[in-house]
Amino acid sequence: MKSSITVASMSAGLDNVSFSQPNLPQSWHSQITLPAIVEGWFTWQYAVTFILVVIVYDQVMYIKRKGSIAGPAFKIPLMGPFLQALDPKFDSYLAQWASGPLSCVSVFHKYVVVSLHTQSVQLLTFFYNRFVVLTSDRDLAHKVFKSPAYAEPCLVPVAKDIIGHKAWVFLQGRDHAEYRRGLAPLFTNKAMATYLPVQEKVLADYFDKFVAASEANKNKSMPFMTLFREINCALSCRTFFGDYISQDAIKKISDDYYLATAALELVNVPLSIYIPGTKVWRGKRVADAVHVEFAKCAAACKAKMATGAKPTCTVDHWVRHMMESKQYREKIAAGETDVERPPNLIREFTNKEIGETLFTFLFASQDASSSATTWLFQILAQRPDVLNELRQENLDARGGDKNKPFDQPMLESLTYTNAVVKELLRHRPPVIFVPYLATKDFPVTSNYTVPKGSMIIPSCYPALHDPQVSPEPDVFDPDRWITGDAESKTKNWLVFGAGPHDCLARRYVPLSMAGMIGKAAMELDWKHYETELSEEIKVFATLFPMDGCPLVFTKRA
Ligand code: HEM
Repeated sequence: MKSSITVASMSAGLDNVSFSQPNLPQSWHSQITLPAIVEGWFTWQYAVTFILVVIVYDQVMYIKRKGSIAGPAFKIPLMGPFLQALDPKFDSYLAQWASGPLSCVSVFHKYVVVSLHTQSVQLLTFFYNRFVVLTSDRDLAHKVFKSPAYAEPCLVPVAKDIIGHKAWVFLQGRDHAEYRRGLAPLFTNKAMATYLPVQEKVLADYFDKFVAASEANKNKSMPFMTLFREINCALSCRTFFGDYISQDAIKKISDDYYLATAALELVNVPLSIYIPGTKVWRGKRVADAVHVEFAKCAAACKAKMATGAKPTCTVDHWVRHMMESKQYREKIAAGETDVERPPNLIREFTNKEIGETLFTFLFASQDASSSATTWLFQILAQRPDVLNELRQENLDARGGDKNKPFDQPMLESLTYTNAVVKELLRHRPPVIFVPYLATKDFPVTSNYTVPKGSMIIPSCYPALHDPQVSPEPDVFDPDRWITGDAESKTKNWLVFGAGPHDCLARRYVPLSMAGMIGKAAMELDWKHYETELSEEIKVFATLFPMDGCPLVFTKRA
């Protein structure tokens, strides 16, 4: 009888392989003849020899893979910089990028082999090292982003468990492009214009909460990072699901969502997803609850759109496109000839698929948007000159009536506000790099080939802080987008990545950030209480000020 063996590679959460293998002979060990030199050894001698051989092999492989690129001459035996990976430091990334256009590390990783037999389940965990190559050069970053034949996005091991094993972001090539084509119309100007009223309402509610939180704290400074995460969660949930989602569900998701992010560390304790109380276990539970909630919203949306209602949120638009596509197909099947093809001809998606897809949007947006919001409020409090100019521009655009709601043409007309948003995303890019996996040997330069199976990480930060392109890159200067030439340096604009997986929301993000900061400038004053950690950068998926952004908000007269 054959035993079926499934090898689940958790190395990237991407590459699952199945194969069958006949049972090994029970007495295989008795058939091996040991060399005379090791005969009579004690068990510990075998063990020590084995470990030494593994260490030497690991070191030799590292040196071979490293070739001519920058990186430590030798690696820490077996685990590499595993401990640093648990608590990544921004300064180490800066040092790594400064070390060369291509540099490398080799870090401990894990590989799980699950062996399922008819009557028993055996679980074996193997550890291995992943070779990681970082690019700091802009053109090399573009090359990686735009070489789907050689590299694909590579999320951390448990990402598939959190996001969903069948989620569209794990598709590649034609399947990915086709799925994505059906989602792009959810972020056109026309669709985005319908999201703004709901966003204005969320902002109004949360600005009241900011003021109330400061008042409750007797107008003493308090870290606002958590509330910034919450406002972004609410903005996303309401934009994606409108009124289908309850305020309680939004609160619960935003309270718990950071657990899902916390679970997605570069390295996790093996099998921790099964151990109650661990980060990964808690993250998975939160993600499962969000999936259930989102699928319920999808069902409610389908029922409402069937009544002919006007779309006001992302899922409405998507379901409307599904309905139009279905009607079109039915008419064609019925033999009608003069039928107009809908602009977004897509298949039908189940509630689960819809929920899972919008979960990928939340997943992609939550940390990055929270990071951008935190820095935006901190920097504008530090720069009253910038805030005053932005405030004046917003007041003028509202014809002097600070309570006038924003709309798409208004937001697009705000030259200075949009420059502030762009400069913020350049100065403090939420995503500093995007991990990719080399799916085959990848010749990134004429003299270096990234070995198949390595991680290759195109970096966004160095291109955005290149002094040749952005003079005094560490200075926050919105004018470089108005009177300077920053706008023409499009190749350096890697805030949203590039190529087939670039950010689906690259136009939506600046628009909603402009709406947020313009309205805040109309209605709120806020003061930042600088600490020695305010400019220290914490890396928690994205970048945050180490002190959590201590602020006090008051209502503007
Ligand atoms: C400040 C906010 C944001 C930043 C800086 C950001 C940045 C990025 C980056 C760097 C990537 C990877 C690109 C690549 O591999 O080439 C990405 C992918 C993605 N982003 Fe964003 N993002 C933000 C907000 C959002 C929001 C609000 C949404 C959804 C509404 C979103 C949806 C996505 C999706 C779906 C992908 C994956 C696309 C694919 O694989 O085809 N992002 N984003």
